[in-house]
Amino acid sequence: MRVTTVPTVATPGEDAQHTPGVQVDVYVKPGDAKRALREEALQGLCGTPKELSPKWLYDERGSQLFDDITRLPEYYPTRREREILLAHAGDIARLSGADTLIELGSGTSEKTRLLLDALEEAGRLARFVPFDVSEAFLRRAASGLAREYPGITVHAVVGDFERHLGQLPNGGRRLVAFLGGTIGNLKPAQRALFLRQLSAGLQPGDGLLLGTDLIKDRERLYAAYNDSAGVTAEFNRNVLKVLNRELGGNFDPDAFEHFAPFDEKNAWIEMRLVSRRAQSVWLSTLRKQVDFAEGEVLRTEVSCKFHQQQVASELSAAGLTLAEWWTDAAGDFALSLAFKR
Ligand code: SAH
Ligand code: AVI
Repeated sequence: MRVTTVPTVATPGEDAQHTPGVQVDVYVKPGDAKRALREEALQGLCGTPKELSPKWLYDERGSQLFDDITRLPEYYPTRREREILLAHAGDIARLSGADTLIELGSGTSEKTRLLLDALEEAGRLARFVPFDVSEAFLRRAASGLAREYPGITVHAVVGDFERHLGQLPNGGRRLVAFLGGTIGNLKPAQRALFLRQLSAGLQPGDGLLLGTDLIKDRERLYAAYNDSAGVTAEFNRNVLKVLNRELGGNFDPDAFEHFAPFDEKNAWIEMRLVSRRAQSVWLSTLRKQVDFAEGEVLRTEVSCKFHQQQVASELSAAGLTLAEWWTDAAGDFALSLAFKR
């Protein structure tokens, strides 16, 4: 039974490993993350165009900023996905028959509580596996969840969903939730590989619940990623602070402008940091100077937008059959329920 009197995210400094009911597996240790960032920065900041993986956006501050984004008036995906979950969590519990819920890129798992409640109500829920690369944030979320759902095992996994899907806990009837449209932060080739790897680790009958943002009116897409309060800009520029801290950099975040246009050809929003002037940045850990021309772009994220047919065919190519497709009333966002063949 869910106990609702505790905060969603526990207070900073709390260690989930000392919380009864929580097991934490760590596949991305701080040293590994630093090494991976070093390698990626050497390649990504020295290539043309300059580019970094969006996973570096999510240090503690970045994770908090993303949470703030979900409450912005312009950022509709979180509200739309919650609307779909409110309408269909019971259907998802019934159709999946799951006793284990795994959530990739789980963040605060705020919307996921709707699924946990429905699975508990169906009487089968035994285990929740939040999986995220952002360790401190995940640990706090897992602590809160373990207290809210004392009747289940919370088994958190600190991992990279592009590298550690093979480490997902086995056993039981599993439903993997990948919410928020985070699959859209993978480019098509990365996405195909991700879906193949995920599917390879599932048993026939295991499910995937996938959130995807849908192609829509350009103005609304633009507003969602260029909000008037500047929170997305701060989220984007925060990656420069990550580079300063982790790689001994001297980026001046104010010397870069946030700009996130919709690329019609690729059907993705592209989050950019645009250099306001010609400048050089020194990264002492890499012993490397990185030069930016005025107007030069550092791409920090793509966020792909979809049609139903595309989602169905990408799932099918990975051995997953689309069983249900639900959208919110406005048709902005979709949740797909698919099963491993
Ligand atoms: N699922 C939540 C959070 C989405 S934000 C929601 O729907 O609101 C994206 C989340 O994915 C962040 O918590 C981030 O830390 C995590 N993430 C990003 N790249 C990742 C990766 N490669 N492996 C694991 N987690 C990742
Ligand atoms: C996590 N992900 C689905 C978000 C998105 O919409 O692509 C990240 C984000 N980037 C800017 N705003 C939100």
